[in-house]
Amino acid sequence: SVLVVDFGAQYAQLIARRVREARVYSEIVPHTMPVGEILAKNPKAIILSGGPSSVYADGAPHLGPEIFEAGVPVFGICYGFQAMALALGGTVDNTGGREYGRTPLTVTREGSTLFEGTPGEQPVWMSHGDACSAAPEGFTVTAATDGAPVAAMECDERRLYGVQYHPEVLHSTHGQQLLEHFLYRGAGLKPNWTTRNVVEESIAAIREQVGTKRAICGLSGGVDSAVAAALVQKAVGSQLTCVYVDHGLMRKGESEQVEKDFVAATGVQLKVVDAQERFLDALAGVSEPEQKRKIIGREFIRVFEQAASEIVAEAGAHGEQVEFLVQGTLYPDVVESGGGTGTANIKSHHNVGGLPEDLQFQLVEPLRRLFKDEVRMVGQELGLPDEIVQRQPFPGPGLGIRIVGEVTKERLDLLREADAIAREELTAAGLDRDIWQCPVVLLADVRSVGVQGDGRTYGHPIVLRPVSSEDAMTADWSRLPYEVLAKISTRITNEVDEVNRVVLDVTSKPPGTIEWE
Ligand code: XMP
Repeated sequence: SVLVVDFGAQYAQLIARRVREARVYSEIVPHTMPVGEILAKNPKAIILSGGPSSVYADGAPHLGPEIFEAGVPVFGICYGFQAMALALGGTVDNTGGREYGRTPLTVTREGSTLFEGTPGEQPVWMSHGDACSAAPEGFTVTAATDGAPVAAMECDERRLYGVQYHPEVLHSTHGQQLLEHFLYRGAGLKPNWTTRNVVEESIAAIREQVGTKRAICGLSGGVDSAVAAALVQKAVGSQLTCVYVDHGLMRKGESEQVEKDFVAATGVQLKVVDAQERFLDALAGVSEPEQKRKIIGREFIRVFEQAASEIVAEAGAHGEQVEFLVQGTLYPDVVESGGGTGTANIKSHHNVGGLPEDLQFQLVEPLRRLFKDEVRMVGQELGLPDEIVQRQPFPGPGLGIRIVGEVTKERLDLLREADAIAREELTAAGLDRDIWQCPVVLLADVRSVGVQGDGRTYGHPIVLRPVSSEDAMTADWSRLPYEVLAKISTRITNEVDEVNRVVLDVTSKPPGTIEWE
């Protein structure tokens, strides 16, 4: 694979994704990993990511020349580029100046491995203080900007390349092409990391891990658990049993999607636990959001645990053992938690944490190497319904934290109707890909006066919370077309009893969170 050495800025994951978009498999390693260990992984190429602002800053990570002497193609980006220039004998000036944002780049295309076929002038995304003023011996300088006399350097003989700017950012309009030129032309790699290969490799790995033992998997209705389960089903078929806890806090049609459409698409064995009453009873009289979350989490574990023991007991009666628990852990979680490999105890996981000692499983995590968009592609490849594969984020506690006030059956039904209308109209207007998600919230503790027909009403407001976001850490409210908002408002107030007002949340995150509770 291609290894992206993470120098601590936020760019490494983005670079790894871009490399995979070029259909070349890539993984991230921390810059603290010794060079010997990096090389022992036999990388096909190495990319050094951006990092701290200056190679001269206190504690800035250094790079010895060894990594460039192993014959492995290396591409340095921003900080990685400067560290490379310095390590190979180039000059990096501690200028104190700064070049930030969209910057015009002047390029020499002739004879360039990186820039052939791209414009002589192109916008790139810069973010640096120091500047490289002289490339190391043997390198050709192939691009410059006003603030960076050496903005790109290439040495075909040693297959070493570097750029001062960020090709992985979309503002660098030819950045992806540049990366592909490095991968295909510079490093001689072939674009063969395809969804089909991912599926085939995963299936082989799951078969090897699970063998003839049994596995269980909790389905949440979300894309990750669905795709993980579908992969394991494809690999070991009837050795897998899925559990779906219907807590009654799902949106309209979502339980049917799991119980009917998902089962039809995969042929998976599914145990459905109807726990709606149990959750309603536990939530009765509770309005405080954190308390609601705790109750929902606790009840979920108890119900899942009960279902799991039943499956274990049934298998035991047939002389079989359930040894594995399937989880939809994604690559970003793996990277952020230190990238450790191997199997973890079930108790360490937050979704189903707290299972008792006598219920210990090994984890099967078929999505550990994948980014979210890749998980969606795998789901598509496996023939899962679009409603599941393209589903927007939805919180674990479901509609329970979208009712401001006590959660009751009537309120859930009412919110389900309003939410279904909003989703229907957003889809009809073709806006699903533009927004990150759109919580629909019922202000159950608030009443407002309205007039409908000839009468005065005293009903509840519904809040629309459409947001755009990259990762849910920050978000902005989506500027939806007025006609779409008008249609949603008219339909909700006409079709949902008890609702006489629809309001729009125009708060970014921060200061507001995406959810109301
Ligand atoms: P906030 O409201 O914190 O939400 O801005 C950020 C993202 O996380 C989702 N969310 C949750 N997801 N369990 C989850 O699995 C939760 O308890 C939970 N709370 C919020 C939310 O929908 C948004 O995408």
